[in-house]
Amino acid sequence: MMSPRPDSRDRLIVALDLSSVEAAEALIDRLGDSVTFYKIGYQLAYAGGLALASQLADRGKKVFIDLKLHDIGNTVAKGVENIARLGATFLTVHAYPQTMQAAVEARGPSLKILAVTVLTSYDEADLRAAGYRLGVTAMVAERARQAQAIGIDGLVCSGEEAATVRSLVGPGMALVTPGIRPAGSDVGDQKRVMTPARAIAAGADYLVVGRPIVAAADPKAAAEMIVAEIEGAGI
Ligand code: C5P
Repeated sequence: MMSPRPDSRDRLIVALDLSSVEAAEALIDRLGDSVTFYKIGYQLAYAGGLALASQLADRGKKVFIDLKLHDIGNTVAKGVENIARLGATFLTVHAYPQTMQAAVEARGPSLKILAVTVLTSYDEADLRAAGYRLGVTAMVAERARQAQAIGIDGLVCSGEEAATVRSLVGPGMALVTPGIRPAGSDVGDQKRVMTPARAIAAGADYLVVGRPIVAAADPKAAAEMIVAEIEGAGI
């Protein structure tokens, strides 16, 4: 990975998939010191979440802005510059060469850019319908190679893809993996899920966890269990 491996606790990223800043703040309060890293996506970002991102950064938390940017290079660059000013640690962009190049050039010293290769909701038929000739596996591999050549810091990938992607890109890129379900928890709408320990063993550096923590009766206990499982994986 890109720098020395972080503490187990810093490898858990909690997805703040909530409809208001108030609801997010209440969860963050309950989680306290158990969680150091939060992800803000479309839902919360468009309800005041970007201001919250900046406050979290001021309070010493790390923030992953999951807005999956994709536009002409100049527009991407200007957006990335302002997200860097929020104090965010990670930002996602779609893995198109122009978009990735613009994001890497504009990111500054502390923001890291993650590329999304192929959305996990896409299968072969969806790619064909969108006009692509490559299948999912070939497309993920091609885009991972392009991301690495451009100097992207990391990739978002499912637990199933993690081992293959890791073998393609080597140790230098951070792999960030959603679709995590501790043994016995609800799968929800995720189709390809992995336990924290298996995702870590497959090569993930960071785990993104939403509902297993956000919807838990005791979110802090759920987070602590996942941190313990990451620690126990010993990798
Ligand atoms: O609730 P759950 O643990 O499934 O949340 C996973 C989070 O990761 C959500 O914020 C979702 O948008 C995000 N994500 C995902 N699959 C991807 C990329 C991001 O589930 N391929």
